[in-house]
Order: sequence, then structure tokens, then C-alpha cells
Amino acid sequence: MPRSPAIFHFLLLSLFAVFAFANATAVSTMIQQFKEAPQFYNSLDCPVIVDEDEEGEGSILCSDQAVHVAMTLDTAYIRGSMAAILSVLQHSSCPQNIAFHFVASATANASLLRSTISSSFPYLNFQVYPFDDSSVSRLISTSIRSALDCPLNYARSYLANLLPCCVRRVVYLDSDLVLVDDIAKLAATPLGDTSVLAAPEYCNANFTSYFTLTFWSNPSLSLTFANRKACYFNTGVMVIDLARWREGDYTTKIEEWMELQKRMRIYELGSLPPFLLVFAGNIVPVDHRWNQHGLGGDNFRGKKNGKCLLILLEEHIVYYHLSGNCLSAEKVTESSRKWGGAVKFLKLKIRC
Ligand SMILES: *[C@@H]1O[C@H](CO)[C@@H](O)[C@H](O)[C@H]1NC(C)=O
Ligand SMILES: *[C@@H]1O[C@H](CO)[C@@H](O)[C@H](O)[C@H]1NC(C)=O
Repeated sequence: MPRSPAIFHFLLLSLFAVFAFANATAVSTMIQQFKEAPQFYNSLDCPVIVDEDEEGEGSILCSDQAVHVAMTLDTAYIRGSMAAILSVLQHSSCPQNIAFHFVASATANASLLRSTISSSFPYLNFQVYPFDDSSVSRLISTSIRSALDCPLNYARSYLANLLPCCVRRVVYLDSDLVLVDDIAKLAATPLGDTSVLAAPEYCNANFTSYFTLTFWSNPSLSLTFANRKACYFNTGVMVIDLARWREGDYTTKIEEWMELQKRMRIYELGSLPPFLLVFAGNIVPVDHRWNQHGLGGDNFRGKKNGKCLLILLEEHIVYYHLSGNCLSAEKVTESSRKWGGAVKFLKLKIRC
């Protein structure tokens, strides 16, 4: 009897998802132990990347032929990150050609994060970059969702500065998602001659509602989106051309909006609106199946804490992005009906 890939994945993840809390009381020193993932090998037709030295030009972490993935890393979300990393490797046909770029708070214990990753993924090509939260903290004004005020949430705006210049294109992923398709397909999203980023775009969403009345009633500010077909897009999954980003100095442009936000409240949510202000209307849309979100989400007061992970293993849903607190089986089935096919999922750890 042929063994279904879904069942195979189910077993793999079940094996992987074993946690031990060494010290549950002190969060800062909490060590979560994860099982060692198996080694994943390239298929025969993958480009061969010669990894000459650990860093430098010859490294896979610098190669144009590698798929570069950027994620943030912290102890609170590490469970989600581990699942995401595993899912990326599992579904890639060239897993050895993937380079992970992890951004961690400069105040976090980087060696602990590094060893946690290495012990579960001994063969992973990765680098951890310290992110100076204090520089962005001064720019953050409190938002409705306090989790969004976390400085690491803003790291995605600084990837062009944090990652080495040799990395031209990167796929940014939030730590609360699981891929069930080859990330190389997402990374290959054509950006045309000028676009800086690709992201899932939602033109039916009420764009007006992402900004305050103060913004819309200001004659010069409200012109921001004039001559742009601006739509809401999600920043949890993005393909970014870092070279173009650097050329256009978009980090500064985002910071300028954040500085304005500190002086007058032009939006409510945290890191997303500055992205919309700079890029909405000028992005390349990514197919929505790369960002199944909004199910079970209480967008304003939900505790988006990575405690819940449902893993979908369904043909049509490429991956499932958990934008809510915790998703029920019914919600997932509802979504699978919409997309067709059957959904299998498992709960890695539920503490809701
Ligand atoms: C970081 O974590 C390691 C355990 O991997 C520990 O030995 C070390 O003391 C920690 N460093 C700090 C500064 O807390
Ligand atoms: C969009 O949102 C704005 C502000 O929240 C509201 O005034 C407007 O009625 C909404 N438009 C639609 C079509 O729902």
C-alpha cells in the first residue's frame, strides 16, 4: 500500500515535536529542547553550491544560487520557528541550498539560540544577527496589540542593513507559519524591473481603516496614496529584493513614518502601516495560498504568542499562517472546504 505523504509528514512532525521545559518558572532562562531533525538532502538536479569557507564570498550564506530565508528568533516564539524551519526543509527539493538568516534581539542570549538551532538542525546553513532593539524602541509608539510593540517585530524593516550585502533576494517569514510547498517557488516570484517586494495583497480589505481620521483628514498626508492603487498587504510573508531596498533606502523611509506616528497618531497597528505607507500599490502580489490567514483571528486583542500551532497538510493550501490566537479544528476544516481537498493537521502544543 502506498504511504501517503501526508501521513509521512504527520509522523515526522510527531517525532519532532517533543518539548521539555527545563525551567518553567524563569522565562528568560527557559530552555526548550527539541528533537534532532533528520538530515535533508538535495535532489540530483539541484545546483551545486561550493561552500568554500564558513562566511565570506564563497559561502552558501552569500550565494546567489541559495534560497535565502530570514526569520526572527526569540525564546518566546522558538517553538514556532522550529516548526517553520522543519517545514521549509521538508518540502524543499534543494534543502541543502537554503540559507537561514535569523535576527535575534541584541539582548537575547545568542549562543543559547544558536545551540538550540544547531542541536535540532545540525546540518543547517544559518547565521544569527544581533538586532539592536533600542534603536527601534525609541520609534515605537504603543499600538492596540501590545505584542506588536515588540521591537523584534520591526526587524523585517532592517533586513537590508542586517544581512550581508551579498544577499540580494530574501524570503522573510514570520515564526508562526508552516510551509507545505517548496520555498524555492516562493523565492522565485518575479519582481519585474522595479519592484522591491512581493507579498500577499488583499484589495478587498478596507484600506481606509488601517489609518486614522487624523491621517485621512490631513490634506498633505492623505495624498500619500494618490496615483497609487494601494491595497492592504500582509508582511508575514515577503520576497524582498534587498539590493533595491538598499538603493532606495527604504528603511529610512519607514523610519520617517514611524517618527511622524510618534508626533501624531496616523495609524493604530504596529509595524505594518509604515510598510503600507511606503509600498502599498507598488508591490508584486504573491498568490494567496502562500498566506492563509484570518481564520480564528481576533486581530485586535488576540494573544499572538505562538503557543498554538496547527499544521495543515493539504495539497491546495500551501501553508497556513496563524494570525489568530488559536485555531479550532472547525475553522481549519472550513478553510479546507473552501480550497477543496482534505486537511490533516496536528497540534504541536496547545496551551490556550
Ligand atoms: C547563555 O546561555 C548559555 C547556555 O547555553 C549559558 O551557559 C550562558 O551563561 C548564557 N549567557 C548569558 C549571558 O545568560
Ligand atoms: C472603511 O473603513 C472606514 C474607517 O474605518 C469606514 O468609515 C468606512 O465606512 C469603511 N468602508 C467600507 C466600505 O466598509
